[in-house]
Amino acid sequence: MSTNLSTRMEKVSISATSALFAKVDEMKRAGVDVISLNVGEPDFPTPDNIKEAGIKAIKENFTKYTAGSGIAPLREAITKKLKKDNGLSYEMDEVAVVVGAKQALSASVMATCGEGDEVIIPIPCYVSYADIVKLAGATPVLVNKNEDFSLNIEEIKNAVTDKTKAVIICSPDNPTGAVFSSESLKELADLAVSKDFFVISDEIYEKIIYGENKHVSIASFPGMKDRCVVVNGFSKTYSMTGWRMGYVASRKDVVNAVIKIQSQTTTTPPSISQMACLEALRGPQDSVSYMVSEFAKRRDYVEKRLNDIPGVCCTDIQGAFYAFFDVRSYIGKTLKDGSRFTNDMEVCDYLLREKHVACMPGSCYFAPGFIRISFASSMEVLKEALDRIEDGLKTI
Ligand SMILES: Cc1ncc(COP(=O)(O)O)c(C=O)c1O
Repeated sequence: MSTNLSTRMEKVSISATSALFAKVDEMKRAGVDVISLNVGEPDFPTPDNIKEAGIKAIKENFTKYTAGSGIAPLREAITKKLKKDNGLSYEMDEVAVVVGAKQALSASVMATCGEGDEVIIPIPCYVSYADIVKLAGATPVLVNKNEDFSLNIEEIKNAVTDKTKAVIICSPDNPTGAVFSSESLKELADLAVSKDFFVISDEIYEKIIYGENKHVSIASFPGMKDRCVVVNGFSKTYSMTGWRMGYVASRKDVVNAVIKIQSQTTTTPPSISQMACLEALRGPQDSVSYMVSEFAKRRDYVEKRLNDIPGVCCTDIQGAFYAFFDVRSYIGKTLKDGSRFTNDMEVCDYLLREKHVACMPGSCYFAPGFIRISFASSMEVLKEALDRIEDGLKTI
């Protein structure tokens, strides 16, 4: 007998974003003026019409358990959205409403992958993918993206084995800001069909996209409806991170498995949030376009400011609200106290300690030598933060 933790816990670590969030919170409580560029959430309030729908749900006592797959009107609204925005035809019973896109991802992986299965993850990638795969008992297989962070189909092809069960992709991408081309998605779709594996497609940033870039769901290619799990949510598009709402659209047996997992873990998504999300989908969308136009201005500013810092390189940000920049030229440089940076984590520690700017080290995304900052902050805050980053790096 033993009161040790389960062996499963030896394989997973706490989400790097949550760990840094706690450290920054502690510094702020101690009175340090920290600028947080580490958190991935829009700085805008949830739009009023959505908040009102949540308040109305409370006032009307819509505060109890709901159907395990989510309320029917919301599932219906999601099917309409998938048709209108993504050209995808799903029936209501091919959609499950869950507690955030993160739960959508973990339940989808758990539903489709297990012991002995391999899951290919192109890197750099979202902090949680590899740990979610490990929690499901499967093995993450990391493959590089191209230098410009586009999908490297050859790398994926080379990594496919008879154990490959799924590939996880995210477009627009966190942390890189890349939007995968329709051609590359078609190539991956063809590979998935010919080699018979799932594609778990995280589309949570689909609306946050810039310039000529277009979001294409990989589920829209021939043969993909039966092997794609579309993951999406409300956190980013409608600035609803705290409402904890996401969804899965897929083949009926996959969706039923997701609902089964939800029924044994969280029971149902929150009733109040479901009414708010129904309004988010049915109501006016002008708050989304406003938010994206503001992000676009900040993206131009941040990209330019970073590329103006000697030795820093930031690739074109096509979507989402992150700048992912290369600081490899700073690794090995000597600080005033004689110490040297040996990795990106030390560069981030230095920026937090000396300049009070919290940034995410690229290593958290399997990209050593890079840093991710979120530009979901006001222009004023971003200006101050970039002044501090520039000053911090220039004085090395
Ligand atoms: C790529 C990606 N997927 C999923 C999530 C989780 O979103 P949610 O708040 O809906 O759980 C995030 C949140 O940062 C994300 O960046």
